Amino acid sequence: MGHRIDQTSPASQYSGYGVIEDVDRVTDLVLRAMSRTPNARLREIMKSFVRHLHAFAREVQLAEAEYDVAIDFLNRIGKATNDAHNEGILFADAVGFSTLVCLLNNGAHSAPQTAAALLGPFWRDNAPLTPDGASIVRSPTPGPALFVTGHIRDPQDRPIPAVDVDIWHSSPVGLYENQDPNQAEMNLRGRLHTGEDGVFHFRSVKPAGYPVPTNGPVGELLRGQFREPYRPAHLHVMGYKPSYKTLITQVFVPDDPFIEKDVVFGVTRKLIGDYRRHDDGEPPSPDVTPPWYTLDYTFVLEPGEAKRPVPPIK
Ligand SMILES: [Fe+2]
Repeated sequence: MGHRIDQTSPASQYSGYGVIEDVDRVTDLVLRAMSRTPNARLREIMKSFVRHLHAFAREVQLAEAEYDVAIDFLNRIGKATNDAHNEGILFADAVGFSTLVCLLNNGAHSAPQTAAALLGPFWRDNAPLTPDGASIVRSPTPGPALFVTGHIRDPQDRPIPAVDVDIWHSSPVGLYENQDPNQAEMNLRGRLHTGEDGVFHFRSVKPAGYPVPTNGPVGELLRGQFREPYRPAHLHVMGYKPSYKTLITQVFVPDDPFIEKDVVFGVTRKLIGDYRRHDDGEPPSPDVTPPWYTLDYTFVLEPGEAKRPVPPIK
């Protein structure tokens, strides 16, 4: 289990790391206790984590009652998490931690690569394979029709065929299908493949913004901070192909009122898409009435390791 802590090295004879003489000694003593960690990366991470955690408590002079609130908050994040909801990711998102980690790990080679964005808590694996050009609307869904053309190219601007593309977005009622009994299973979710030209097409409805779930501890925090829980409208896109770094991103709708106040800090400049409104002319499909929208967006995949993320929900 790659993401679990390796526990294969048993602690043997401790020489002891001392008793605590006063508050100033606590941190050193903890660091010493952890200094034998054989896994160098675990040692480095925990050393830094403890140093910053202790420094944080010192800086704010954390009261015992506040400590109790914090532990209770942490425990409730766990309890609020289930197969259909991931409160832990929502918390990381709401404090900008997901975006920070995402940006630290993507875009280091700068220019041509498409900016990555946080995965969010709503990706489901095994979305239905959708023929090129088909609709991902699987039950009656409000909102104007949207026709998406996506191009997937390498940093040399060559098309990449046979990329596995996952698409998911919320319904304009503000809920993902797994949150909403009125939507069909896998509504507004699909998996497509790029053709030889590196292009994929699908039909959906124009996404609308939505509030993140606020009935758990993260909602309490947002209310306590006078923060609105809304995300600007976006499409989630994941591009996966062996030998390319998996691209996880979102394409935002520019005229959304929350474009500059995303509760989870996902909006980067490059990820604002050109969603074009059409009021006249021949609609792309006979059942479409104006207005409809089109989106044309180019994603750049870098050579690298292809890795599908762990689904945050089932
Ligand atoms: Fe989303």
